[in-house]
Amino acid sequence: MNDDKFVEVKNLKKVYDNGHEAIKDVSFSVKKGDLVCLLGPSGCGKTTILNMLAGLLNPTSGDILFDGKSVVNVAPKDRQIGYVFQNYALYPHMTVLQNVMFPLTVGKQKMPKDKAKAIAEKYMETTQIMELADQKPGNLSGGQQQRVAIARALVQEPKILLMDEPLSNLDARLRLKIREEIRTLVKKVGITTLFVTHDQEEALSIGDKIILFNNGVIQQDDLGQNFYLEPNNYFVANFVGNPVIDNFKVTVHGDKITGSDFEINVNDLDKSRFKRDLTDGEYTLSVRPENILPAETGHVSAKVDDVELIGRERILKFTHDGVQARSLVNLETPIKAGDGINLKMRLDRVFLFDKEGERVY
Ligand SMILES: Nc1ncnc2c1ncn2[C@@H]1O[C@H](COP(=O)(O)OP(=O)(O)O)[C@@H](O)[C@H]1O
Ligand SMILES: [Mg+2]
Repeated sequence: MNDDKFVEVKNLKKVYDNGHEAIKDVSFSVKKGDLVCLLGPSGCGKTTILNMLAGLLNPTSGDILFDGKSVVNVAPKDRQIGYVFQNYALYPHMTVLQNVMFPLTVGKQKMPKDKAKAIAEKYMETTQIMELADQKPGNLSGGQQQRVAIARALVQEPKILLMDEPLSNLDARLRLKIREEIRTLVKKVGITTLFVTHDQEEALSIGDKIILFNNGVIQQDDLGQNFYLEPNNYFVANFVGNPVIDNFKVTVHGDKITGSDFEINVNDLDKSRFKRDLTDGEYTLSVRPENILPAETGHVSAKVDDVELIGRERILKFTHDGVQARSLVNLETPIKAGDGINLKMRLDRVFLFDKEGERVY
């Protein structure tokens, strides 16, 4: 027993029959009781991983352990997993109560109707769908169907809950509300949960930690804030953040970092943040919009193309070296479209990525 590695995935690989390598040597672990988000763009392999955890798909190689025991040869129904599918997969001809009871009325777990009903009602209570008991799924809103799917996934009291983009069919406002509800619910039940999403804000808001994938490879496995502050590479820096990060092409020669119209001395950077020695060559210098701000004298001069209001802040959009970039300022900043500005970067917060996208600073 090792609660830090309640779920452990070791060197997992999946090559589909058509030769497509969807998962390439992936390893991670999930702590007991944690809600971990598997994040990444469409097609990066998130569903493939969930399906291998659930036993619906066999790994090509590698191992999956639950509570220290390998499950790769264990049948799906014996893995003690609850699965909420992306489209909910409710039975349309059954009522809500019948849907939720269903897993308890079939197979090895089959139990008397009244006992199944009592357990189903307990989870319908938790997910607040008691008053929908006699409705058919077709009459329910997306958010209600979602809760039915969660209740049905929980009735067998699984050890692990898998959720595949459970909010993607809901409208934006409901998504915010239900993601909070899901976190509250799984914490209350105390179940270890893997939650798949392609939405970085969703992952940051509910995940105890986040595992970000691209092309079947883990890019970063970390606490949410580290995706902002310490991204592993160019992909991570650009995938996480709203507004998105600014990227400037630069050339390093000796102790000079030269952009299209600015120059930074390497000695002005924070020495402790270098991952390795900076060698001459082409790099991308990236900075989050909150770390490049209007100043008397700055690194970059630009004309504001447009100003966008987001809640309590404004995004100043400008074009630099032919590329769109952004500065995030507070609401009171009296800058408008057409204004010329100087922008200063916080040099202790910029990143340098080499041609392969690896972070150097
Ligand atoms: N049955 C399959 N046969 C071949 N390729 C597949 C199959 N299922 C998924 N893929 C491919 O594997 C990759 C990962 O798919 P998937 O796990 O569904 O990604 P995600 O859930 O992150 O969107 C994609 O490129 C997808 O097209
Ligand atoms: Mg998917």
